[in-house]
Amino acid sequence: MRTSVDSDAPTPERYVAFADVEARGMSAVYESWAHGVTGDPGTVALIDELPPAKRQPNLVFSAARYQGAPIAPYGVFRDWLHAHWIEVRATALAHATQTNEAARCALHLPVLAGIEGPLALLEVGASAGLCLYPDRYSYRYQGHAQLDPASGPSPVVLECVTSGPVPVPDRLPEVVWRGGIDLNPLDVRRPDDLAWLDALVWPEHEDRRARLRAAAAIVAADPPRIVAGDLNERLHEVAAMAPAEATLVVFHMAVLAYLDEPGRARFVRLVLELPGHWLSVEARSIMPGIDVRDDIENDSTDFVLAVDGVQRAWAHPHGRAIRWVPDP
Ligand SMILES: C[S@@+](CC[C@H](N)C(=O)[O-])C[C@H]1O[C@@H](n2cnc3c(N)ncnc32)[C@H](O)[C@@H]1O
Repeated sequence: MRTSVDSDAPTPERYVAFADVEARGMSAVYESWAHGVTGDPGTVALIDELPPAKRQPNLVFSAARYQGAPIAPYGVFRDWLHAHWIEVRATALAHATQTNEAARCALHLPVLAGIEGPLALLEVGASAGLCLYPDRYSYRYQGHAQLDPASGPSPVVLECVTSGPVPVPDRLPEVVWRGGIDLNPLDVRRPDDLAWLDALVWPEHEDRRARLRAAAAIVAADPPRIVAGDLNERLHEVAAMAPAEATLVVFHMAVLAYLDEPGRARFVRLVLELPGHWLSVEARSIMPGIDVRDDIENDSTDFVLAVDGVQRAWAHPHGRAIRWVPDP
């Protein structure tokens, strides 16, 4: 199987790797578009007008869909892309991949519920902050009764398949403070930001699109404070804003891949200096210093969920499944 390639690789190589590794089984539309680009020098030439970091398939396809690209066979998409390239290029240059998936809260909840509260949640790489509201969503863990907020069932219901001894709680944690840091915080109250988040959801994933809208409405009614800046530069300053009487939990998901190795190592040093707990959910190759439990069955795309630097579970990247890892 091909593996993903870095941003210095030639565009056809990046697109075929995206088709075969990321899109296959996840989006037939993106798989076919990416294969189409790979064999289409005219479209590769357009994409190569972008700086290497902006040529990533997910960004280019999202930018196209943000501008109204039809969900259609590659030939139709290609003609549309060539006719609208100026707008698509401007969108790709002005935006970044900031997919925000509320369903990831189903991964966090078993950990958060086991920490003495009340909780102060600080998410680094928060995007629009949809993962800062684990207490406002309902949960259906396989084999367990639906778990609802104290105020009753939520319009956002997160389904999660479980394996192993997942400590599914019987009530949701109390969250008294939420804060975030992001290079480019998105605000779900702004129609353009919401439209961009929508474009980042892959074409066939209608359940995720519906969840995005419902979670955005919850967040818009009580927006979090997300400060703009680099997570390493602002971590301690934002952590100091949390109320001292609450337990601080710093968490991140699908974020540290954006940092280089020294940046990741610096983050680990900084987060370990803080009181409270550190919850990370990242791809297996990303986290420095965490012993990965390959002795427990997992899918090659699963993320490592770790608490204070110790792996506790294998996690589906979109929060659809969690496999708890017993103590070694
Ligand atoms: C893929 S999104 C994940 C959003 C959210 N954690 C989730 O799971 O839904 C990654 C986010 O990390 C942010 N990010 C990347 N590098 C960052 C950095 N050095 N400092 C702060 N935020 C960063 C990006 O802007 C983006 O919003």
